[in-house]
Amino acid sequence: MMLDGKHILLIIGGGIAAFKSLDLIRRLRERGAAVTPVLTKAGEEFVTPLSVSALAGSKLYRDLFDLGDEAEMGHIQLSRVADLVVVAPATADLMSKMAQGVANDLASTLLLATDTPVMIAPAMNVRMWDHPATQRNLVTLRGDDIAVVGPNDGDMACGEFGPGRMAEPMEIVTAIQAHFADGPLTGKRILVTSGPTHEPIDPVRYIANRSSGAQGTALATALAALGAHVVFVTGPADVPPPSGVEVIKVQTAHQMLNAVEGALPADAAVFAAAVADWRVSSASDRKLKKSKDGLPVLEFAENPDILKTVAQMGKGRPKLVVGFAAETNDVIENATAKRKRKGCDWIVANDVSPETGIMGGSENAVTLISDAGAEGWPRMSKTDVATQLAARIAQALT
Ligand code: C5P
Repeated sequence: MMLDGKHILLIIGGGIAAFKSLDLIRRLRERGAAVTPVLTKAGEEFVTPLSVSALAGSKLYRDLFDLGDEAEMGHIQLSRVADLVVVAPATADLMSKMAQGVANDLASTLLLATDTPVMIAPAMNVRMWDHPATQRNLVTLRGDDIAVVGPNDGDMACGEFGPGRMAEPMEIVTAIQAHFADGPLTGKRILVTSGPTHEPIDPVRYIANRSSGAQGTALATALAALGAHVVFVTGPADVPPPSGVEVIKVQTAHQMLNAVEGALPADAAVFAAAVADWRVSSASDRKLKKSKDGLPVLEFAENPDILKTVAQMGKGRPKLVVGFAAETNDVIENATAKRKRKGCDWIVANDVSPETGIMGGSENAVTLISDAGAEGWPRMSKTDVATQLAARIAQALT
């Protein structure tokens, strides 16, 4: 089984999503993992110690100053016996304590004392998630090499809608499996951009393109399956982001560039996003109205070229930089010129003329252009393109 012999210390924080952690315990144990649960005081308000302990088939730890626990296994040791510490739900409060190094209860003390990798599944109200303080803490935690799963967008128990829902148990399981995946890309950090970007015209309208995000998503999944830590920077795509990768959602090209720069350094970067070439230079902060004076005139400004920026960054450049080229004619000539112009190592070129059905479809026919020349691949599913490309990336990095 995928998680045989793995020992997970699961810290359950105090949020309504704690009920999902009961299911998470079951799913982890089904896959062969041993789960030692820790329940915070706030967590006890949402799930009972008895159900946590019964499902885990393990003693539950709750109190920093429990003499019995301390005699059995000191809290410092408890923090280190596991192969992975998972915090689910990770409340705003727990994230804040972790970012600041506060240790004033069992959970936060374990998190400060541990030398084991840590993964968090945040869950909180939308406003709390969006608050600059939480976003600052998130950046700090990422910088401390803490893996983050979710949160997802959706309806929340508090009646609001937006990001803040804890990732589903199976998404957390997939992320945990990816963490332990032992493949040629284990220990490598790979950045993948995906999806379209949305460039606002006014608060309700935007410019976009027909990219579904399917190829980027398949590629991120394939890279994670080979053991890579994937940072997936995605615009508003049709397909949901993959599990088992770190997801950063953006809307505009500028936001995508910021997210990419924030996610570096990386061993490789793959730019599968269909970034809008132009944005409206002064997007209106009010909805444009029909007017008798005629039609609105939109002025455009050029967006930053993210691939080119990273490919030509000099110090700190990923070892392998891969771009995509969607062309409708003279595919190889155009893509070869694009590889030179952008300064990237490889271009994955494809013909997106409407008659190919590739844009938004499930298949792709690509040509891999590198300094070795152009290599045409047969038409195959986007998943197969992703698997083969991931294997080539693994070869190039090892
Ligand atoms: O120049 P063109 O858009 O055809 O180049 C496509 C490649 O460049 C893709 O890999 C795409 O992700 C990347 N790109 C980018 N930022 C832009 C435009 C394109 O990263 N602003």
